[in-house]
Amino acid sequence: MFSAASCGKADVANEEKTETNNTSGTNENGNDNKTSGTTSGHYLVVYFSRSGNTRTVAQQVRQLVGDSLLAIEPTTAYTSDYDKMLTVAQQEINNIDGKNLYPSIKTTVENFDKYDAIFICTPLWWSRMSTPMQAFLNNHSDKLKGKKLYLAVTSSSSGISSVVADAKRLCAKSALSDTTLWIKASDLSNVTKLVTDWITALKVSRKQ
Ligand SMILES: Cc1cc2nc3c(=O)[nH]c(=O)nc-3n(C[C@H](O)[C@H](O)[C@H](O)COP(=O)(O)O)c2cc1C
Repeated sequence: MFSAASCGKADVANEEKTETNNTSGTNENGNDNKTSGTTSGHYLVVYFSRSGNTRTVAQQVRQLVGDSLLAIEPTTAYTSDYDKMLTVAQQEINNIDGKNLYPSIKTTVENFDKYDAIFICTPLWWSRMSTPMQAFLNNHSDKLKGKKLYLAVTSSSSGISSVVADAKRLCAKSALSDTTLWIKASDLSNVTKLVTDWITALKVSRKQ
């Protein structure tokens, strides 16, 4: 089968100021831009990463366009044992689907007022959005109401359609872009170009 960071209560303004992955690539079946030009704005990059792949993507987004980088931290760290991890994640997904019960995370954001849009970077687990990212979006769904969201996903090989469905369910009141980024772990060496191409397709830039 497939083979497959952080802060507590987050003041995003105090997040990392440095930094900035696909077969993958940009899904260009959607065009969010009402004009042909680039929109400049302020962007928050939120990510969850257990083994570093998604962090690499998020750091690249941050470097190119983001103002702040925010890592989602689970309240209880996940096991490094991959096989056990698969079981834990499956159970958490079952809890979400069956009981509407999300895993506990430490990371909270007071509000997103100073950001024009939020980049959501997550690994794919069992073809779904990673559960800590699901928890973050669930906890903040009201605060993300009306906010533009951009979704980037890493996986070993699985396609991201169910992750997109999770994002639509969790962010039903937000404006989720159809132009998603999917990066396979084997394509991470090409992260700079893949993220650059995505940002170009989104037509967004950082406001100075
Ligand atoms: C619990 C778990 C479930 C996973 N399920 C899948 C899967 O269904 N399909 C797939 O292609 N990759 C799967 N993967 C691999 C991850 O999506 C991939 O390695 C990802 O890039 C990891 O991101 P990270 O390093 O930021 O944690 C899984 C990994 C974990 C830990």
